Amino acid sequence: MAKTALITGASGGIGYELAKVFATHAYDLILVARSTDKLQQIQSELTQSHPGQVHIFSYDLSQPASPLALFEQVQQQGLTVDVLVNNAGFGDYGPLAECDWDKHSALLQLNMVTLTHLTRLFLPPMLERGSGKVLNVASTAAFQPGPFMAAYYASKAYVMSFTEALAHEVDGTGITATVLCPGPTRGTDFQARAKLGEVEFFKQLKLPDAAAVAQFGYDALERNQVVAVHGVLNRLLVFTNRIMPRRTVTNAVGRLQAPEGK
Ligand SMILES: NC(=O)c1ccc[n+]([C@@H]2O[C@H](COP(=O)([O-])OP(=O)(O)OC[C@H]3O[C@@H](n4cnc5c(N)ncnc54)[C@H](OP(=O)(O)O)[C@@H]3O)[C@@H](O)[C@H]2O)c1
Repeated sequence: MAKTALITGASGGIGYELAKVFATHAYDLILVARSTDKLQQIQSELTQSHPGQVHIFSYDLSQPASPLALFEQVQQQGLTVDVLVNNAGFGDYGPLAECDWDKHSALLQLNMVTLTHLTRLFLPPMLERGSGKVLNVASTAAFQPGPFMAAYYASKAYVMSFTEALAHEVDGTGITATVLCPGPTRGTDFQARAKLGEVEFFKQLKLPDAAAVAQFGYDALERNQVVAVHGVLNRLLVFTNRIMPRRTVTNAVGRLQAPEGK
Protein backbone atom coordinates (compact mmCIF):
# COMPACT_ATOMS: atom_id res chain seq x y z
CA MET A 1 0.00 0.00 0.00
CA ALA A 2 1.25 3.50 -0.85
CA LYS A 3 2.48 5.63 2.01
CA THR A 4 0.96 9.06 2.60
CA ALA A 5 2.76 12.36 3.21
CA LEU A 6 0.90 15.34 4.65
CA ILE A 7 2.62 18.58 3.56
CA THR A 8 1.66 21.99 4.95
CA GLY A 9 2.30 25.03 2.79
CA ALA A 10 2.09 22.92 -0.36
CA SER A 11 0.46 25.55 -2.61
CA GLY A 12 3.82 27.02 -3.68
CA GLY A 13 7.55 27.34 -3.08
CA ILE A 14 9.42 24.61 -1.20
CA GLY A 15 6.19 22.83 -0.13
CA TYR A 16 5.02 22.44 -3.74
CA GLU A 17 8.45 21.07 -4.72
CA LEU A 18 8.35 18.66 -1.78
CA ALA A 19 4.93 17.47 -2.98
CA LYS A 20 6.43 16.71 -6.39
CA VAL A 21 9.37 14.80 -4.85
CA PHE A 22 7.06 12.69 -2.63
CA ALA A 23 4.75 12.04 -5.62
CA THR A 24 7.75 10.86 -7.66
CA HIS A 25 8.49 8.37 -4.87
CA ALA A 26 4.94 6.97 -5.17
CA TYR A 27 3.49 8.61 -2.06
CA ASP A 28 -0.15 9.56 -1.75
CA LEU A 29 -0.38 13.20 -0.71
CA ILE A 30 -2.41 15.37 1.64
CA LEU A 31 -1.67 18.95 0.65
CA VAL A 32 -2.61 21.81 2.99
CA ALA A 33 -2.57 25.60 2.50
CA ARG A 34 -5.04 28.50 2.33
CA SER A 35 -5.19 28.92 -1.49
CA THR A 36 -7.78 26.40 -2.64
CA ASP A 37 -7.37 27.38 -6.31
CA LYS A 38 -3.62 26.72 -6.26
CA LEU A 39 -4.11 23.43 -4.40
CA GLN A 40 -6.70 22.34 -7.02
CA GLN A 41 -4.26 23.13 -9.84
CA ILE A 42 -1.51 21.13 -8.12
CA GLN A 43 -3.91 18.25 -7.45
CA SER A 44 -4.84 18.09 -11.11
CA GLU A 45 -1.18 18.39 -12.23
CA LEU A 46 0.07 15.67 -9.88
CA THR A 47 -2.77 13.22 -10.47
CA GLN A 48 -2.09 13.45 -14.22
CA SER A 49 1.65 12.90 -13.85
CA HIS A 50 1.73 10.38 -10.95
CA PRO A 51 -0.30 7.32 -9.98
CA GLY A 52 -0.86 8.26 -6.31
CA GLN A 53 -3.89 9.98 -4.74
CA VAL A 54 -3.76 13.70 -3.96
CA HIS A 55 -6.07 15.06 -1.25
CA ILE A 56 -6.28 18.80 -0.69
CA PHE A 57 -7.40 20.52 2.48
CA SER A 58 -7.72 24.31 2.74
CA TYR A 59 -6.85 25.68 6.17
CA ASP A 60 -5.48 28.90 7.55
CA LEU A 61 -2.96 27.22 9.81
CA SER A 62 -2.28 30.45 11.69
CA GLN A 63 -5.69 29.97 13.33
CA PRO A 64 -5.26 28.12 16.66
CA ALA A 65 -8.22 25.78 15.94
CA SER A 66 -6.88 24.64 12.55
CA PRO A 67 -4.45 21.85 13.57
CA LEU A 68 -7.14 19.88 15.44
CA ALA A 69 -9.72 20.48 12.68
CA LEU A 70 -7.23 19.24 10.07
CA PHE A 71 -6.31 16.18 12.16
CA GLU A 72 -9.99 15.31 12.63
CA GLN A 73 -10.73 15.72 8.92
CA VAL A 74 -7.81 13.42 8.05
CA GLN A 75 -9.11 10.82 10.55
CA GLN A 76 -12.70 11.11 9.30
CA GLN A 77 -11.55 10.38 5.77
CA GLY A 78 -9.76 7.26 7.00
CA LEU A 79 -6.34 8.53 5.91
CA THR A 80 -3.11 7.44 7.57
CA VAL A 81 -0.23 9.93 7.71
CA ASP A 82 3.15 8.19 7.37
CA VAL A 83 5.16 11.38 6.90
CA LEU A 84 4.26 14.74 8.41
CA VAL A 85 5.95 17.69 6.70
CA ASN A 86 5.60 20.92 8.67
CA ASN A 87 6.68 23.35 5.96
CA ALA A 88 4.21 26.27 6.09
CA GLY A 89 5.84 29.38 7.47
CA PHE A 90 6.66 32.98 6.67
CA GLY A 91 8.86 35.90 7.73
CA ASP A 92 8.26 39.57 8.37
CA TYR A 93 11.07 42.07 7.80
CA GLY A 94 11.56 45.29 9.77
CA PRO A 95 12.24 46.63 13.27
CA LEU A 96 10.07 44.92 15.89
CA ALA A 97 8.83 48.27 17.21
CA GLU A 98 7.26 49.04 13.82
CA CYS A 99 5.82 45.61 12.99
CA ASP A 100 2.19 44.80 12.24
CA TRP A 101 1.35 42.86 15.40
CA ASP A 102 -1.43 40.77 13.81
CA LYS A 103 1.00 39.57 11.12
CA HIS A 104 3.72 38.88 13.70
CA SER A 105 1.33 37.02 15.94
CA ALA A 106 0.22 34.84 12.99
CA LEU A 107 3.92 34.22 12.21
CA LEU A 108 4.62 32.95 15.72
CA GLN A 109 1.46 30.84 15.71
CA LEU A 110 2.13 29.26 12.30
CA ASN A 111 5.91 28.81 12.52
CA MET A 112 5.95 27.39 16.07
CA VAL A 113 2.59 26.57 17.70
CA THR A 114 0.89 24.98 14.69
CA LEU A 115 4.03 22.96 13.87
CA THR A 116 4.16 21.69 17.45
CA HIS A 117 0.42 21.01 17.65
CA LEU A 118 0.35 19.07 14.37
CA THR A 119 3.31 17.00 15.55
CA ARG A 120 1.55 16.36 18.87
CA LEU A 121 -1.58 15.19 17.01
CA PHE A 122 -0.01 13.00 14.31
CA LEU A 123 2.77 11.45 16.43
CA PRO A 124 0.67 9.07 18.64
CA PRO A 125 -0.80 7.13 15.65
CA MET A 126 2.75 6.84 14.25
CA LEU A 127 3.99 5.53 17.61
CA GLU A 128 1.13 2.98 17.69
CA ARG A 129 2.16 1.72 14.26
CA GLY A 130 5.87 1.84 15.16
CA SER A 131 6.73 3.79 12.02
CA GLY A 132 6.58 7.34 10.73
CA LYS A 133 8.64 10.39 9.87
CA VAL A 134 8.45 14.08 10.71
CA LEU A 135 10.14 16.69 8.52
CA ASN A 136 10.14 20.21 9.94
CA VAL A 137 11.29 23.11 7.78
CA ALA A 138 13.40 25.61 9.73
CA SER A 139 16.06 27.79 8.08
CA THR A 140 19.71 28.77 8.39
CA ALA A 141 18.10 31.63 10.37
CA ALA A 142 17.83 29.07 13.19
CA PHE A 143 21.54 29.33 13.94
CA GLN A 144 21.84 32.98 15.01
CA PRO A 145 19.75 35.95 16.15
CA GLY A 146 18.43 38.05 13.25
CA PRO A 147 18.03 41.76 13.98
CA PHE A 148 15.20 43.28 11.88
CA MET A 149 13.63 39.80 11.55
CA ALA A 150 14.01 38.98 15.22
CA ALA A 151 10.83 36.93 15.70
CA TYR A 152 11.30 34.95 12.46
CA TYR A 153 14.87 33.94 13.32
CA ALA A 154 13.82 33.05 16.86
CA SER A 155 10.88 31.00 15.54
CA LYS A 156 13.25 28.97 13.37
CA ALA A 157 15.66 28.46 16.31
CA TYR A 158 12.62 27.01 18.10
CA VAL A 159 11.86 24.66 15.19
CA MET A 160 15.44 23.39 15.18
CA SER A 161 15.68 22.90 18.95
CA PHE A 162 12.21 21.30 19.05
CA THR A 163 13.06 18.85 16.26
CA GLU A 164 16.44 17.86 17.73
CA ALA A 165 14.74 17.14 21.06
CA LEU A 166 11.90 15.25 19.37
CA ALA A 167 14.40 13.11 17.43
CA HIS A 168 15.91 12.11 20.79
CA GLU A 169 12.49 11.37 22.35
CA VAL A 170 11.42 9.07 19.52
CA ASP A 171 14.78 7.34 19.08
CA GLY A 172 14.25 3.55 18.91
CA THR A 173 10.47 3.77 18.30
CA GLY A 174 10.59 3.51 14.50
CA ILE A 175 9.84 7.23 14.17
CA THR A 176 12.40 9.77 12.94
CA ALA A 177 12.49 13.56 13.03
CA THR A 178 14.46 15.73 10.61
CA VAL A 179 14.85 19.50 10.49
CA LEU A 180 15.56 20.98 7.07
CA CYS A 181 17.47 24.27 7.15
CA PRO A 182 17.48 26.02 3.78
CA GLY A 183 19.25 29.30 3.20
CA PRO A 184 17.59 31.98 1.02
CA THR A 185 15.87 30.09 -1.81
CA ARG A 186 14.56 31.16 -5.22
CA GLY A 187 11.27 30.04 -6.75
CA THR A 188 9.33 30.89 -3.60
CA ASP A 189 7.19 33.80 -2.41
CA PHE A 190 9.11 33.96 0.86
CA GLN A 191 11.16 37.10 0.13
CA ALA A 192 8.14 39.03 -1.23
CA ARG A 193 5.88 38.01 1.67
CA ALA A 194 8.58 38.94 4.18
CA LYS A 195 9.21 42.30 2.40
CA LEU A 196 12.87 41.30 2.03
CA GLY A 197 13.06 42.92 -1.41
CA GLU A 198 14.14 46.05 0.43
CA VAL A 199 17.38 44.42 1.62
CA GLU A 200 20.28 45.05 -0.79
CA PHE A 201 22.22 41.99 0.46
CA PHE A 202 19.46 39.58 -0.61
CA LYS A 203 19.21 41.14 -4.10
CA GLN A 204 22.88 40.30 -4.73
CA LEU A 205 22.74 36.62 -3.71
CA LYS A 206 22.76 33.83 -6.31
CA LEU A 207 20.18 31.56 -4.75
CA PRO A 208 19.54 27.80 -5.09
CA ASP A 209 16.07 26.89 -6.28
CA ALA A 210 13.21 25.38 -4.29
CA ALA A 211 13.35 22.08 -6.21
CA ALA A 212 16.96 21.47 -5.11
CA VAL A 213 16.09 22.30 -1.49
CA ALA A 214 13.09 19.93 -1.57
CA GLN A 215 15.12 17.04 -3.01
CA PHE A 216 17.81 17.63 -0.37
CA GLY A 217 15.17 17.61 2.39
CA TYR A 218 13.61 14.39 1.10
CA ASP A 219 17.02 12.68 0.93
CA ALA A 220 17.89 13.82 4.47
CA LEU A 221 14.56 12.43 5.71
CA GLU A 222 15.25 9.11 4.00
CA ARG A 223 18.69 8.90 5.67
CA ASN A 224 17.10 9.73 9.07
CA GLN A 225 19.42 12.75 9.35
CA VAL A 226 18.38 14.98 12.25
CA VAL A 227 19.74 18.39 11.15
CA ALA A 228 20.03 18.99 7.40
CA VAL A 229 21.54 22.32 6.30
CA HIS A 230 21.19 22.84 2.56
CA GLY A 231 24.25 23.98 0.58
CA VAL A 232 27.99 23.96 1.20
CA LEU A 233 28.16 27.72 1.75
CA ASN A 234 25.32 27.59 4.26
CA ARG A 235 27.03 24.75 6.14
CA LEU A 236 30.24 26.79 6.23
CA LEU A 237 28.31 29.81 7.50
CA VAL A 238 26.62 27.73 10.20
CA PHE A 239 29.99 26.31 11.28
CA THR A 240 31.55 29.79 11.40
CA ASN A 241 28.59 31.10 13.41
CA ARG A 242 29.09 28.34 15.96
CA ILE A 243 32.72 29.24 16.65
CA MET A 244 32.35 33.05 16.56
CA PRO A 245 31.20 35.07 19.60
CA ARG A 246 27.38 35.32 19.52
CA ARG A 247 27.49 39.12 19.80
CA THR A 248 29.78 39.40 16.74
CA VAL A 249 27.46 37.20 14.69
CA THR A 250 24.37 39.17 15.78
CA ASN A 251 26.08 42.45 14.85
CA ALA A 252 27.04 41.07 11.43
CA VAL A 253 23.46 39.96 10.66
CA GLY A 254 22.18 43.28 11.98
CA ARG A 255 24.48 45.18 9.60
CA LEU A 256 23.47 43.03 6.60
CA GLN A 257 19.75 43.35 7.28
CA ALA A 258 19.58 46.94 8.55
CA PRO A 259 17.00 49.09 6.79
CA GLU A 260 18.45 52.24 5.25
CA GLY A 261 19.30 54.80 7.91
CA LYS A 262 19.31 52.31 10.85
N1 LIG B 1 12.38 30.78 0.60
C1 LIG B 1 13.37 30.97 1.44
O1 LIG B 1 14.28 31.77 1.18
C2 LIG B 1 13.40 30.18 2.73
C3 LIG B 1 14.62 30.06 3.43
C4 LIG B 1 14.66 29.34 4.60
C5 LIG B 1 13.52 28.75 5.10
N2 LIG B 1 12.34 28.88 4.42
C6 LIG B 1 11.15 28.26 5.00
O2 LIG B 1 10.58 27.39 4.04
C7 LIG B 1 9.20 27.20 4.32
C8 LIG B 1 8.41 27.33 3.03
O3 LIG B 1 8.49 28.67 2.58
P1 LIG B 1 8.68 29.06 1.04
O4 LIG B 1 10.02 29.61 0.90
O5 LIG B 1 8.29 27.94 0.17
O6 LIG B 1 7.66 30.27 0.96
P2 LIG B 1 6.34 30.50 0.09
O7 LIG B 1 6.65 30.33 -1.36
O8 LIG B 1 5.80 31.81 0.57
O9 LIG B 1 5.37 29.32 0.54
C9 LIG B 1 4.77 29.30 1.81
C10 LIG B 1 3.68 28.24 1.85
O10 LIG B 1 3.08 28.29 3.15
C11 LIG B 1 1.68 28.47 3.00
N3 LIG B 1 1.14 29.29 4.08
C12 LIG B 1 1.53 30.54 4.45
N4 LIG B 1 0.75 30.97 5.44
C13 LIG B 1 -0.14 29.98 5.71
C14 LIG B 1 -1.23 29.84 6.61
N5 LIG B 1 -1.57 30.83 7.45
N6 LIG B 1 -1.95 28.69 6.60
C15 LIG B 1 -1.64 27.69 5.73
N7 LIG B 1 -0.62 27.76 4.86
C16 LIG B 1 0.10 28.90 4.84
C17 LIG B 1 1.51 29.18 1.65
O11 LIG B 1 0.25 28.89 1.08
P3 LIG B 1 -1.04 29.85 1.10
O12 LIG B 1 -0.58 31.25 0.94
O13 LIG B 1 -1.85 29.30 -0.03
O14 LIG B 1 -1.69 29.58 2.42
C18 LIG B 1 2.59 28.49 0.82
O15 LIG B 1 2.12 27.26 0.34
C19 LIG B 1 8.84 28.24 5.39
O16 LIG B 1 8.75 27.60 6.64
C20 LIG B 1 10.02 29.20 5.35
O17 LIG B 1 10.22 29.83 6.59
C21 LIG B 1 12.26 29.58 3.26
